[in-house]
Amino acid sequence: MKPTLIPQPREIICSGGASALPENASVTFVNKPELPDEAYELKIENGAAEIAASSKAGVFYAAATLSQLRANGAVGDMLIRDEPAYPYRGFLIDSCRHFYRVNELKSVIDAAARFKLNRFHWHLTDDQGWRVEIKRYPKLTEIGSRRSGSHFGGVDEGGPYVGYFTQDEIREIVDYCMERFIEVVPEIDMPGHFTAALAAFPEFGCTGEHMEPAQKEGIYPNVMCVGNDGAVAFVKNVLDEVCELFPGKYVHIGGDEAPRTRWSRCEKCNAKMKALGITDYDALQGCFIEEIAEYLVSKGKTAVTWNESLKGGRLSPEHVVVQRWMDRKNLCEAFAKKGGKVIESDFYHYYFDYPFGMTPLKKAFKYDPASKHREAGLVGVEGALWTEYVRTFDDLCEKLFPRILTVAERGWSGSPKRDYAEFRAAAESLIPFLNEQGIPALPPDRWDPAPLKRIKEVRAFFKGPLNNDLIGQMRENKK
Ligand code: ACM
Ligand code: ZN
Repeated sequence: MKPTLIPQPREIICSGGASALPENASVTFVNKPELPDEAYELKIENGAAEIAASSKAGVFYAAATLSQLRANGAVGDMLIRDEPAYPYRGFLIDSCRHFYRVNELKSVIDAAARFKLNRFHWHLTDDQGWRVEIKRYPKLTEIGSRRSGSHFGGVDEGGPYVGYFTQDEIREIVDYCMERFIEVVPEIDMPGHFTAALAAFPEFGCTGEHMEPAQKEGIYPNVMCVGNDGAVAFVKNVLDEVCELFPGKYVHIGGDEAPRTRWSRCEKCNAKMKALGITDYDALQGCFIEEIAEYLVSKGKTAVTWNESLKGGRLSPEHVVVQRWMDRKNLCEAFAKKGGKVIESDFYHYYFDYPFGMTPLKKAFKYDPASKHREAGLVGVEGALWTEYVRTFDDLCEKLFPRILTVAERGWSGSPKRDYAEFRAAAESLIPFLNEQGIPALPPDRWDPAPLKRIKEVRAFFKGPLNNDLIGQMRENKK
């Protein structure tokens, strides 16, 4: 019988027998240079295993497969030939609205690695908190990591809410990820979602007004003044340290949800537009993101930006990777046609902070991003866990697992090749495996609520924690 694994390997040839692989079974390694990076072959014969790969990552993924086979119990003789469909297979954790400590993050990272996810997109700065230590600007964390209260969804959580990751802690996470072949993609969000930075440095906003980090969800007008050369130099200096701290290729620079109200009344921003010979704010944002992306290229990095920044038509496919989350499919396709690369994180399928009633496991599983981009330009997929309404680590795990496994499946196996019932059964059988990594997963009877239950769950969510925020957000994005 074929084993049920997540993600499903490209090819499994079973050749009989079904005995448990002994705990002390011999595992031998063969270097096979002709195999692509991350690919592997795993042969199980007569109670022994042989792994062939051309890279350490390939060996790691073969071992991940082997440990799932062991968790499943019986293992017959078989040959698995496997390689990923996409090079980018990510999960996002927002550490700004609520955040979880190093050991908790490590549990999630470890579990993600066992499903062959290979990018940890770490959202580190936002309106509600600046969570990465920057030595050159200690005020960013002294002031920007502290909000005096929390009122997400109208719930008063008391206060203050304070904290950040020191550079030592960041290095600890980066190393932990590296050992698991995961690249950390840090996100420093700009020019919007910038309230916490402006709490520390009001002079880098358009108005200079004093403020403190935000206490509730939403899109705030407190954007960076992109017409201020000092503000641009400031974010470049921050990025200098970020590039040192995070050795990976990608640096995410946000570029989402930046209201234009402040820019429209700012002398410096309007003077900058004039100097650039542009007449609209989308172009202003595009020019700014492109300038920062070019700066990152000069440091050997590649910028990633959310899809809003495409609107101004200024991004160069050579400098920027676009992460699509909401609408803008046509712009993304046009960008891909020019040679641009796109990461797919569709809000309706891969935003896992929403209730299962809104995004059931089956809906996430059925999503095939390749059909959106006709493959061209698609470098991979990413599931997101924003934390406005995630107040405990157990809740974070239950929202993420098992739904993030659908991203692992699509990212590794490509377009759907197995039916949902089989995938679901595999996920159920792996719950004890997840629990062993310290990850509570939502019980299976809540993965795919019946239609009435879905309506109830979604209504309760929208009436409770979400209010009108999402609707406002969608309107903002459609503009
Ligand atoms: C986003 O959800 N604002 C990227
Ligand atoms: Zn300005």
